[in-house]
Amino acid sequence: MNPKLGSCYYPEHWPEDQWQKDAEDMIASGLTWVRIGEFAWSRLEPEEGDYNFEWLDRAISILGSAGLNVVMSTPTATPPRWVVDKWPDMLIVDDEGRTRRSGSRRHYCFSHEGYLNEAIKISEIVAKRYGANPYIKAWQLDNEYGCHDTTLSYSVSALRAFRIWLEKKYKTIDRLNESWKNVFWSMDYNDFEQIELPNLTVTDPNPIHALDFRRFSSDQVINFNQSQSQVLRKYTQMPLIHNYMGRITDFNHYEVGEDLDVASWDSYPLGFLEDRSNQSDEFKTKFMRFGDPDFQSFHHDLYRTVGNGRWWVMEQQPGPVNWAPFNPEPATGAVRLWTWEAIAHGAEVVSYFRWRQAPFAQEQMHAGLQRPDGVAAPGLNEASQVFSELKNFESIDQVQSKIALIFDYESCWAWEVQPQGKDFNYFELVYDYYKALRALGLSIDILPPNQGDLSGYKVVLMPGLMHIGDELSRAMKEFDGVLISGPRTGSKTLDMAIPEKLPPLIPGINGTVARVESLRPNVTISIKELGNFKKWMETLVDSDNVIQFCDDGRPAIIGNENNFYITGWADQETLKNIFSGVCDSQDISFTELNDCVRTRETSSYRFWFNFSEEESTVGSIKIPASGVIWEAI
Ligand code: GAL
Repeated sequence: MNPKLGSCYYPEHWPEDQWQKDAEDMIASGLTWVRIGEFAWSRLEPEEGDYNFEWLDRAISILGSAGLNVVMSTPTATPPRWVVDKWPDMLIVDDEGRTRRSGSRRHYCFSHEGYLNEAIKISEIVAKRYGANPYIKAWQLDNEYGCHDTTLSYSVSALRAFRIWLEKKYKTIDRLNESWKNVFWSMDYNDFEQIELPNLTVTDPNPIHALDFRRFSSDQVINFNQSQSQVLRKYTQMPLIHNYMGRITDFNHYEVGEDLDVASWDSYPLGFLEDRSNQSDEFKTKFMRFGDPDFQSFHHDLYRTVGNGRWWVMEQQPGPVNWAPFNPEPATGAVRLWTWEAIAHGAEVVSYFRWRQAPFAQEQMHAGLQRPDGVAAPGLNEASQVFSELKNFESIDQVQSKIALIFDYESCWAWEVQPQGKDFNYFELVYDYYKALRALGLSIDILPPNQGDLSGYKVVLMPGLMHIGDELSRAMKEFDGVLISGPRTGSKTLDMAIPEKLPPLIPGINGTVARVESLRPNVTISIKELGNFKKWMETLVDSDNVIQFCDDGRPAIIGNENNFYITGWADQETLKNIFSGVCDSQDISFTELNDCVRTRETSSYRFWFNFSEEESTVGSIKIPASGVIWEAI
């Protein structure tokens, strides 16, 4: 594969006589893709039925004839004001029952039928006009589903749609009462029409009520996306893409991905470190100019699977952003480093957000590849450097990793609904496992929970996976590598109840979770010769084999060396101890790295990344400050 670079461009933000020069400058800088149109609705249809596409025709033709491949977008993330006036109840409602206003973006509720039809209509008009346009080589649907907390809506439309969804799932109200066990607190219903949304209840709603609402809300995103992909496919043969986000887990990305051809995501390493990370202040200061060295790669690995092997970075941070609590400059070299890291994880295209900084409106303080006056900003030179360096490669191709980690959206929702300890967060748990594996220099594949084939892997990990479904269960039985599970793996039915035979329900693991406890932040439980648990601890009984005990006598690891269960939330050092032992036993070579260095193996190269402003060494390998190096393997 030959990776390419691109940028996000808004012709409607700039005078028309500047478009030609912008297109030529992009090409001269080494960019060959340009994404346009995702927020342009008010200029395409200023009033209902009053279409104005000629300016966009000209923009596409200028960009395309300069040699750029265009990604055209549906503009549905920013419905103009006239759409809101037509459908005042299309606005999203938060869990306090407050309607969120128009005046920014993503103000629609996924369940509003009127808006859904408007979105299909404008998508069809755009697709009809440009579906066969020779310059358009890919399509983006909407923009960042779920961003700004917009998956869950507590509107009247959502309520109506939720009742229909429940009736479809349970058929009769008796079945729902039985599955939800509504006998508890006299919550039995006589009719689907009595069911409310699970917000504003006096105390917790029934957890299965809340979990079903999360499943329903995810399905609404899937339907919305599917309705657009069906329309686009009538008019274009080009690949369909959505740009997902970092650490947004409110909908099932694997399922959205089934209706698309390529996954992409928007990578803002410094913004995410400040805004979406639970790392310590010390860590944030240390990495303020690079971002968390594992956060980007986690999402690269996740979206590679969501896209079924095909994925892009649609938006790459090129300089300071405007939206995090603090917005530092990237270190010199960081933009190049992030770009190479994405390429090493398989990105087909890395596209920067945005070409030129806008001197107006909400994002006027957000850097672009160019300053507002058109002068190159530091990120542009680094992008051009990658473009030149890419010429040294014939192809950069992915290989199946030896290690796979399962990531499940439903488990995210389940443990949000019922965490049992306020810091039990599923993303954090899986991410801790990922971080420890990466710190050992390992390359990782992320798999969905319904993975039916584990062949080719040597180790598969599934921490916190609430329920093991039939496909995975079969695959586990056929698997001849090492399976690592726990804590909380296989601990709930799909109805969000404790199974009749007590957990963990995991093929090949014998034992019973007799009790669980969550721990205050300053409490640890020590494991003999291995390390510590924090946050969460289970008391396992009836196990036929305890591999390791805690100092307090409780089992810490049960099972056997090919299939074992960890009974608590192990800290980083402990996880590294456990995983390095597994690597030794499986002949997987690993290298313990300092926290600034990461590596990635592709089919013919190994890449090394240095997330620090000082040179790092790994054995005889020297990685310059903010550097990227590669070696043929
Ligand atoms: C993304 C979004 C872009 C822009 C960018 C700023 O989340 O898709 O439109 O707002 O953030 O960093």
